[in-house]
Amino acid sequence: PLSLSALAAAKGMRFGSAVAGGGGGSWRNPALADLLRRECAIVVAENEMKWQAIRPSPTSFDFAAFDGIAAFAAQNQMKLRGHTLLWHRPKWMPRWLESHDFGSRPATAAAAMMANHVETVCARYQGRIVSYDVVNETVLPEDGSLAETALSKAMGGTEALVDLAFRTARKAAPGVELVYNDYMSWEPGNALHRKGVLRLLEGFRRRGTPVDALGVQSHLIAPLPDAAHRREWQRFVDDVVAMDYKLVITEFDVRDRDLPVDIPSRDRTVADTTKAYFEMMLDYPQLKDVLAWGLVDAYSWLQGFEPRADKAEARGCLFDSAFKPKPVHAALAQAFSAA
Ligand code: G3I
Repeated sequence: PLSLSALAAAKGMRFGSAVAGGGGGSWRNPALADLLRRECAIVVAENEMKWQAIRPSPTSFDFAAFDGIAAFAAQNQMKLRGHTLLWHRPKWMPRWLESHDFGSRPATAAAAMMANHVETVCARYQGRIVSYDVVNETVLPEDGSLAETALSKAMGGTEALVDLAFRTARKAAPGVELVYNDYMSWEPGNALHRKGVLRLLEGFRRRGTPVDALGVQSHLIAPLPDAAHRREWQRFVDDVVAMDYKLVITEFDVRDRDLPVDIPSRDRTVADTTKAYFEMMLDYPQLKDVLAWGLVDAYSWLQGFEPRADKAEARGCLFDSAFKPKPVHAALAQAFSAA
């Protein structure tokens, strides 16, 4: 059968996946490396470019784990995405940052730290990274407001910090796609999150902040939401592209923890949810890249995140733990072929 990247390429698109720096989901696992080579035209590090991974201290960088992924991508002619230059939530920033002393001129010091981080990473991977999640998840899902961290407080506001990250990235990585990435998906209960994301995107345009695309993470939850919620989602995406943003599906997978445990029916429901989602999303010519958040069930973050009450394995990836494609793989292949 044709690989997902071949099917995507036939439509002028790219398919790819997140890859880990260690463990079974890593490029160091020969079986996984083979699967990545077969299916993927583009990869992204699942964790290895985050501040937590590359900023052991305020004054140092550690690129070892990410460099391994970058080299794997280069050896296999895969494009590379960068995730992420700023995950603007205290929980996902290094511990030292929350208690960092920004001195007597905190705004200047925080701006310098942010700009230096972006410049250092962009300079190192110049010509190798084609797209950055410059900022990840800064809109709070509860009410759509913007998250605060030690960095934004020192800077005197989240908008100023986030704008600085994008402006610095544009200069440090000219010609590279700059993305705001968030999870505001189509399930019921996400309206305020989506509204907050729209407000943020409007603000970017008003202030002339250089943002090219919305990263639509696409951690879907099966079963399929009802038609009214799907229409609401479509209106959201319409509003995004009307502001002249491109779209990137950055982290696709499906949570199946609320489905009955029976495997054939679970796999069917995951596939049906995926099919409906991609039929809608592939209608947007603004969408060129689709990345899964890992390819193989056994190594998915979903195994650890809210595990099923019955302890059964999560089956939210395209391949099962024996590396066999599942119905969801066929559903995505079909959606690409039909697009
Ligand atoms: O590497 C350490 C290991 O040394 C240590 O013993 C172990 C103990 O907890 O932790 C390991 O680090 C974990 C890391 O994943 C690597 O496996 C962290 O605890 C764990 O918090 C981290 O979780 C990642 C999470 O982001 C937070 O960074 C997930 O793997 C990763 O899939 C997830 O990805 C996010 C995207 O970045 C943004 N969108 C949502 C998505 C899913 O949550």
